[in-house]
Amino acid sequence: KEAKLWGGRFEEGVTDAVERFTESISFDKALYKHDIMGSKAHASMLAKQGLISSDDRDSIIEGLTEIERRIENGEFEWRTDREDVHMNIEAALTDSIGEAAKKLHTARSRNDQVLTDFRLWCRDGIDAILARIKHLQVSLVRLALKNEGLIVPGYTHLQRAQPVLLQHLLLAFVEQLERDSGRLLDCKERLNFCPLGACALAGTGLPIDRFMTSDALGFTAPMRNSIDAVSDRDFVLEFLSANSITAIHLSRLGEEWVLWASEEFGFITPSDAVSTGSSIMPQKKNPDPMELVRGKSARVVGDLVTLLMLCKGLPLAYNRDLQEDKEPVFDSVKTILGMLEVSAEFAQNITFNKERIQKALPAGHLDATTLADYLVKKGVPFRTSHDIVGRAVAVCVSKMCQLRELSLDDLRSLNPVFDMDVYEFLGVENAVKKFSSYGSTGSECVASQLDLWVTKFEIT
Ligand code: ARG
Repeated sequence: KEAKLWGGRFEEGVTDAVERFTESISFDKALYKHDIMGSKAHASMLAKQGLISSDDRDSIIEGLTEIERRIENGEFEWRTDREDVHMNIEAALTDSIGEAAKKLHTARSRNDQVLTDFRLWCRDGIDAILARIKHLQVSLVRLALKNEGLIVPGYTHLQRAQPVLLQHLLLAFVEQLERDSGRLLDCKERLNFCPLGACALAGTGLPIDRFMTSDALGFTAPMRNSIDAVSDRDFVLEFLSANSITAIHLSRLGEEWVLWASEEFGFITPSDAVSTGSSIMPQKKNPDPMELVRGKSARVVGDLVTLLMLCKGLPLAYNRDLQEDKEPVFDSVKTILGMLEVSAEFAQNITFNKERIQKALPAGHLDATTLADYLVKKGVPFRTSHDIVGRAVAVCVSKMCQLRELSLDDLRSLNPVFDMDVYEFLGVENAVKKFSSYGSTGSECVASQLDLWVTKFEIT
């Protein structure tokens, strides 16, 4: 058996069970690119500070480049007995360039190394998620552009409430996603500080330049406190919190589309490309992708909860428990990327059933609130007009008709203030036209919001 890189004081090796239990190479090899990037920056800094020769620096950098190439070509052997990604790469470097490689870990510990890698990895992860969020937003805006003027029932309590433009509704999801992006950008800004050089926890007496490595790796600055630098996982908690909120938003979008695709709603028809069938019921065509978007949000929240529990009550500074921080993050990022991708594809593959929606619109007295506003415009106090319209609805319920089908006499028997112009307020199309407040479903207001997104995303 090969001696461990940390094996000096040990007389015997670990048991196989301990080796298998404590390894992280099976998952942290995902950090290889960032580990190599960090090591190259570290080696350059060590040379500039006179801690290693420039020849050593050059052979370390060349050796690391070669290792990266081997990893990418699948020629690199990941060894469990070498524990984690850091030791695997360092030991392989020693195998290939010899003595110079033994100088790389000068003024560095795996504790600051792993956090440097992890912050760099999360930074890239955030960029990838931001791009997918934008792609989904663009898909929703395009769907809105395709369905200009379409009115759909708006719901509260899943009961019919007021008529809204479909575009308005789709843009509500675009707004949610915009805040999701904002949270990730905030998180990225806060996590972009460099732990490298914090070493095990106390820093070092060797003359390193932490500002140089921080700059080289694109960080804003080195972290101020070395103990904090190797202990902090709040950057991950923040990242997974942001992902959780995005996931919850997507689960709501998923639920909406699953409902709309049902026979009961019948608002949308997803294309075959985004539907799946049943192994027993030949007629079935299910919106499984969006059900899974709803379902997978559970994993993303679970990943956050795992991390919260992991960090709870941990003493300063590094503890091996923290090795458990990686898999939930990898899972969260992979899952959210898939959820965003499939949601965008779904948006690109649905058609709205205009006739069916049209036919369904008269049900539910969606124009009742507009009618109450009509009375307010005639000088009736809102509470009174609410009551009058409530009684008008009761008449409709007993006559099984719509508000606009009530005669002027019917209406005047409830209150003499009603006039012929009331019919300009009744019916779903008329009702939608009456909205005019900022942010409302009024067509001008929605058009200007749509313009804003079209310009922002440069949609042509
Ligand atoms: N694989 C470890 C982790 O992910 C690296 C740091 C190990 N440090 C140590 N002193 N055992 O946290």
